[in-house]
Amino acid sequence: MIDEEIKKRLVLALDVEDIKEAKELVDSLSPYIGTFKVGLQLFCGYGLEIINYIKEKNSNFFLDVKLHDIPNTVEKASYNVIKNGANFFNVHATGGVEMMRAAKKGALEACEKYNKKPPIILAVTMLTSISQEVLKNELLNDNDIESLVIQLAKNAKKAGLDGVVASAKELKAIKKELGNDFIVLTPGIRPSWSLADDQKRIATPKSAIADGADYIVLGRAITKAQDKIDAIKKIYQEIKEEN
Ligand code: C5P
Repeated sequence: MIDEEIKKRLVLALDVEDIKEAKELVDSLSPYIGTFKVGLQLFCGYGLEIINYIKEKNSNFFLDVKLHDIPNTVEKASYNVIKNGANFFNVHATGGVEMMRAAKKGALEACEKYNKKPPIILAVTMLTSISQEVLKNELLNDNDIESLVIQLAKNAKKAGLDGVVASAKELKAIKKELGNDFIVLTPGIRPSWSLADDQKRIATPKSAIADGADYIVLGRAITKAQDKIDAIKKIYQEIKEEN
């Protein structure tokens, strides 16, 4: 029996090169995964084909395209994101409060027009690929990353967004500053038995959930596993045992 409380928190990153592989992942894992995440790689390659496939399976779908443009463009893009069926999408918080408000406005207009439930709109604060050094030397910003992340999360909340994408390292501070209702979706998740790959700030599924993650993103720990179903079952077990 699938534990629905766990399932709803699990987001699978469909970071694969071809659509056949993506469809196979959706087919085999939809009983265990609450939300499938379509990122730029798959979206730029296959656009609506993969989106429609996920929708046919009745799974939630997260369009991870990190919108960042002038408010008017983001508003219109957000409208289309919802029109095409996303339950989740995200924008860059560095686009500013007005841009984030525009994303929400466009999304809600589409919800009204197409009779859909309001989506979860998340802000990306600082990309984890931006180091303190890059921030200082390339972006000429002397702030420390953690305080910037908190400020950007506050801006997202002010704009009426639902939460942020943040590493496990930032989880507790965000929940403390922004409140428990402010959603945090956490990538960089690695079960105790899997490889870290290129991720630097990793956490196990259990510890991220214990620290307050509302959603955890599973990627290569599942997609590169020999037996994907067995891997996901082990993750369920790990979360249950240690809860
Ligand atoms: O394979 P892995 O578990 O590392 O995949 C993590 C997923 O989360 C990828 O889709 C990646 O783009 C995304 N992500 C991330 N770090 C961020 C934001 C998103 O790893 N800060």
